[in-house]
Amino acid sequence: MKNIEIIITDDGSIGLYNKEINEIYHSREGAKKEAFEKFVEPALILNKKPLKILDICYGIGYNTKCAIENFKSIELIDCIEIDGKLAQNSFKFEYKSQKNINKIIKNNLKKPDFINFYFNDIRKIIKLLNKKYDIIFHDGFAPHKQAELWSEDLIYEIAKKLDKNGIYCTYNHSKPVLNALYKTGLTVGKTIKNNRTIGTVASFNPKLINNPLSNFELNSLKTKSAITYKDKNLNLEHKKIVEKRNEEIKNSTLETLSHYLKNSKN
Ligand SMILES: C[S@@+](CC[C@H](N)C(=O)[O-])C[C@H]1O[C@@H](n2cnc3c(N)ncnc32)[C@H](O)[C@@H]1O
Repeated sequence: MKNIEIIITDDGSIGLYNKEINEIYHSREGAKKEAFEKFVEPALILNKKPLKILDICYGIGYNTKCAIENFKSIELIDCIEIDGKLAQNSFKFEYKSQKNINKIIKNNLKKPDFINFYFNDIRKIIKLLNKKYDIIFHDGFAPHKQAELWSEDLIYEIAKKLDKNGIYCTYNHSKPVLNALYKTGLTVGKTIKNNRTIGTVASFNPKLINNPLSNFELNSLKTKSAITYKDKNLNLEHKKIVEKRNEEIKNSTLETLSHYLKNSKN
């Protein structure tokens, strides 16, 4: 785990910082808190039946651990993480809970029972997964660091894996990501905590979305700033994806977001 440093986040839980890409893996406000508020809590509405969960960008497994802690019954969790070494050590990072979650992770890493691990690029794995999931966690590094994790093409493939009564959860609420989700036909909504938007939820069943984007917010997705990242064959590098998007923005005749906001005030 070269280049990775441990930080203590504000709720006392361990977070990671990657020196090489100058990016944190977990919210400084609390790694454990983030897993609950942005990923598990928005899907608690489904806590009635045995759940199938897809954890994209598993890292050290906060979202999976928090799911095991909070959902009554889990049928399976498929975890995808490109850094196999990190994930294989994930049970060594303290996770305070009544249940011995790290023991469950350790056992499943050794011999999968209900948790399956795929140590690979999500872009290579996503089409090979042949199930529909009740819950999908999408926790990639931010688009300005890893645009390849947020392209409309990848999000389209992810949405195909979501059950019609399933819920997709992410911390990301940037316009290109909201737009990519919206384009797949999902109802897109906000995860709100203390009057602040902290993440995004989406579902093919509008009844499962408590705070759907308003018409004003939906119309803002028609502006330049909501132009999505493109990665048609799921194989481009971050730099290329960003260059292509910048080019598309430059040539676009769409309204700018600032113009849209200014006009709508009048
Ligand atoms: C923001 S961190 C996720 C933190 C994680 N959910 C946790 O609880 O620790 C992003 C993770 O995505 C992984 N990642 C980066 N590129 C990936 C890819 N193409 N496919 C799968 N995982 C990737 C990184 O190695 C990192 O662990």
